[in-house]
Amino acid sequence: MLKNLITFKQLPLSNTLLTDKKESVNCYDLNISFDENTKLVSVVDNVEPKFLFPDDYVYDSSQSKTMVKHFKKCALKLHKRFHPSSVLEIGSNSGIFIKHFNPDTTVAVEPCSNFAEITEELGYKTYPKFWNTELSNEIKESFENGFDLISASNCICHIQDLDDCFTAVHNLLSDRGVFVFEDPSLIETMKRNSYDQFYDEHAHIFSVTALEKLLERNGLFLFDVEPLSVHGGSNRIFASKTETEKTDRMKEILKDESDYGLDKLSTYEEFAKRVEKSKEDLFNILKQFNERGYKVISYGATSKSTTVFNYCGIDDYLIQYITDTTEDKQGKYSPGVKLPVVSPEEGFDETVDVAFLGAWNFEKEIREKESEYEKSGGLWITHVPEVRVLGHKEFVHEPWVELDE
Ligand code: TMP
Repeated sequence: MLKNLITFKQLPLSNTLLTDKKESVNCYDLNISFDENTKLVSVVDNVEPKFLFPDDYVYDSSQSKTMVKHFKKCALKLHKRFHPSSVLEIGSNSGIFIKHFNPDTTVAVEPCSNFAEITEELGYKTYPKFWNTELSNEIKESFENGFDLISASNCICHIQDLDDCFTAVHNLLSDRGVFVFEDPSLIETMKRNSYDQFYDEHAHIFSVTALEKLLERNGLFLFDVEPLSVHGGSNRIFASKTETEKTDRMKEILKDESDYGLDKLSTYEEFAKRVEKSKEDLFNILKQFNERGYKVISYGATSKSTTVFNYCGIDDYLIQYITDTTEDKQGKYSPGVKLPVVSPEEGFDETVDVAFLGAWNFEKEIREKESEYEKSGGLWITHVPEVRVLGHKEFVHEPWVELDE
């Protein structure tokens, strides 16, 4: 029942930055499929998780103030609504969420050992392993009553075998427990034409429609969905072991998904055409800036921008380098197209004319932080929801630039 929607040809692994420009990397086609049975949109022929989430994994969620605030707020809300007496987080990264819970009653699961060490040092029992039923059985030996809250953020969409993942959750959720997880939303991805949500780590981009079915066949019942603005539009999903009344906002989201046509192949065929246009528009605008002597860089060495740059054929001729605040990324080269990655202190200076928002999902945070750049004439380019230039109009001297202030 799998239908191919889009193929991004010959992409490198999204987070494998190179220490030496001469290094070569393996590339592979990223095929996105739609399962007509479950309505799930997924990457087929996935890369083995141990290559995607190694012991020197570079993505640290605590790099963004927006995410730090977001998870603090989320933890407070969950405390207030569910009063969990025991908590387990799947994919705890650097502890951005878990640190709001008592280490004596909270357990972490994090396969990237560099991050698992951080939460262990913060006092949380951390299993440095991939989440699956085998691990859930191991945890159960020490925590036989299970957990009142099992939480995961931007992690379940990384897990290829969802039936196994949800069985493992069911195994460790207490009878009164809630399973709460958030991931990028498929309808928001489609509306924003943010095709760069598709990269190797994102084994799936979820609709609520698909999740409801998949959870239910593993004994978990979805009862609420909270739309979130983070990561380019996400959903926080609430499920439990017993069937309860679904909230009105969840019913509304399901209706929106159906009205938008997320269950129809033709909707994705239209999306694929818009993606093709976005590629041409981005390449053309960068070429125009380049031909007129503008210095263009990229802001944020994101996994998403690996898809964009490699799919659109953007090399260091069009974008000179990328700035990123993550120390482990600095001094390296981006996967595939090999753009140098430097710190903002080194590369985000008065010589920059235009910056591509690789981290477009943090547009607000970045534009606030870099307001001086804009005030002194700096421009931004984004491809979401369509290719456009952002900045102050008095600094735009090109008649072909359509500006969003
Ligand atoms: P993400 O889009 O996958 O969350 O990755 C964001 C990347 O962007 C991460 O490597 C950190 C980087 N970043 C900056 O360099 N500066 C910033 O102000 C923000 C918010 C992120």
